Amino acid sequence: MMGGRNRLYRADCRRALRALVPGSVDLVVTDPPYNIASDYALTMSAGRLVTTAEAWGAWDRYSDRAYRALLDDVFRSLYRVLRRGGQVYWWTGTRYISAAIELAEAAGFRFRAKLVAVKARPQPSWSEGNYRSAYEDCLYFSKGAPRPFHFLGQRQMKNVLALPYERKATEHPTEKRPAMIAPLIRVSSDRGDVVLDPFLGSGTTAVVARALGRRFIGIERDPDYFRMARRRLGA
Ligand SMILES: C[S@@+](CC[C@H](N)C(=O)[O-])C[C@H]1O[C@@H](n2cnc3c(N)ncnc32)[C@H](O)[C@@H]1O
Repeated sequence: MMGGRNRLYRADCRRALRALVPGSVDLVVTDPPYNIASDYALTMSAGRLVTTAEAWGAWDRYSDRAYRALLDDVFRSLYRVLRRGGQVYWWTGTRYISAAIELAEAAGFRFRAKLVAVKARPQPSWSEGNYRSAYEDCLYFSKGAPRPFHFLGQRQMKNVLALPYERKATEHPTEKRPAMIAPLIRVSSDRGDVVLDPFLGSGTTAVVARALGRRFIGIERDPDYFRMARRRLGA
């Protein structure tokens, strides 16, 4: 928790969301666990080649059933805490795109678009046995008709975001870069609005929201990641 109008909670978001006032949030931008950590897929972590399970730890591993239950619970809470016209950007792994859309719609949301963010420098394919993963997907929902929706011009409003290369700011293994967050906040909120991230990680959504003159609510369960977020936000 921090003073002023911004709030950080070290908590399981399933519990913390229940404590938020209904209709008190203007926009949700979040990057939940993708449930893809594996003992076989490789990634670089702190300059070492390791399995994604080793790099990301327990927080990205659920049974299929538990993962769907998590999405169901969180989408229902997000629908309750968002005001009418509020919007949700939900970064996702490929395997759960249709489950996320179904569960969000069951909670009451309208599915509006899938955005694709193309990475400037994707990780090499370590095994060279499959295609390199060079983009990420983000699902876009609204509660009723989206309001505001600032159309920034034909070039910027394509459903493909070409990302510049940006350095990592923290040791969080799946830190998002500001260019993946800032355009979403600019389009779907106004200055002074409250932006919520229930899976805050190292705090990127809150850092970007604050830089754009928005207020933020961030929730993160892991004490180390929570500390990273507090440090970045000077909280
Ligand atoms: C993909 S990471 C988010 C990274 C973040 N976008 C950043 O830039 O650092 C997902 C985060 O959700 C957290 N998390 C997982 N389950 C959670 C839960 N039930 N409640 C709150 N946080 C959770 C994990 O600890 C992890 O830091």
